[in-house]
Amino acid sequence: MPILGELERAASAEVTATSPASVRISLTDRCDLACVYCRPSRSDGYLDDRLDEPALHTLIEGLLLAGVRRLRFTGGEPLLSPHVVGAVARAAELGAEDIALTTNGTRLTKLARPLRAAGLKRLTLSLDSLDPLRFERITRGGKLERVLDGLAEARAVGFDEIKLNTVVLRGENDDELERITLFAWKHGLVPRFIEVMPIAEGARIVAERLVPAAEILERLAPWLSAARPAVDPERGPAKYVASRHDPKLRVGVITGTTDTFCKGCDRLRVSATGVLRPCLATDRGVGAATAARAGDPALIARTVAEAWKLKPDGDVWRGCTEPTAGDVSMRAIGG
Ligand code: GTP
Ligand code: 5AD
Repeated sequence: MPILGELERAASAEVTATSPASVRISLTDRCDLACVYCRPSRSDGYLDDRLDEPALHTLIEGLLLAGVRRLRFTGGEPLLSPHVVGAVARAAELGAEDIALTTNGTRLTKLARPLRAAGLKRLTLSLDSLDPLRFERITRGGKLERVLDGLAEARAVGFDEIKLNTVVLRGENDDELERITLFAWKHGLVPRFIEVMPIAEGARIVAERLVPAAEILERLAPWLSAARPAVDPERGPAKYVASRHDPKLRVGVITGTTDTFCKGCDRLRVSATGVLRPCLATDRGVGAATAARAGDPALIARTVAEAWKLKPDGDVWRGCTEPTAGDVSMRAIGG
């Protein structure tokens, strides 16, 4: 049975990267859901100085000029941004190596096809329950059927990879681990179970709701191989274990609470207002909106280097368990 404490983490051998290889761009802080671990309600207020389309395109150009190779678009809910398809197309046109997007799926029936056509390679869908009532409760009003229709469309369109993100909440959806895993495997998706993190609203529920990844894997052990969970190269913090029966099927866990993974982190985030943020767990960052609005990619590339100097030291920094994380707006930086 895989035990996380025994992990030989590939990342632990690395030093913090000297520049970001991977950037998550929040296209909007707006979201049509209000998940209980993310925001207090649907009416908690939005930012009003989001980047317009030309500024966003300059930003993407500047990031790639700075050596960034992988882009992921996030939100809020990125499919609420009128600029999402254009942003993907611009990234593809400029030769980004990897273009991915994380969505709640409510608009995928309309947008999966144009996104794929624009050059989106990989998709992650947040899906916390396969039970409609529970889904509605966790998301404060979301309709499961609509999201599953969106997922069906995404599968029909045929992305290189579709992953599921399930934030596991004790006493809420932790009896669905097996069901979600088998659902994902049946449909060619990669299920990932995420520890609720003490960030944003998560800070208020983590003590009561956290299910450690070690426990998640233990509960799924009958389905899993005995190999140690391992990260994928050139990817995020998830660690994967293969199915006992088919090495092509995998389950991922993301341990943002019991085992933070800051060492070797090569990520930068861009908020919906164009602030370059070297860490999810703190509001510290450097503004790039003026450079983006001025149409100056070279200045953005220099700003990336400046923001990267603020990257916390991965040896001592404990990511989303740092007290600063509770004050961060997850919607403004996209998870
Ligand atoms: P891949 O490139 O496919 O590995 O994508 P990903 O796993 O990074 O993308 P996704 O948006 O699905 O991220 C999954 C979740 O992992 C996020 O929603 C966060 O909850 C968490 N996460 C991602 N990056 C970080 C990070 O830098 N720190 C922490 N604490 N959590 C993160
Ligand atoms: N803890 C863990 N994951 C979170 N997300 C948002 N808030 C939290 C939190 N407090 C993740 C969700 C979603 C992604 C966009 O952000 O899993 O998939």
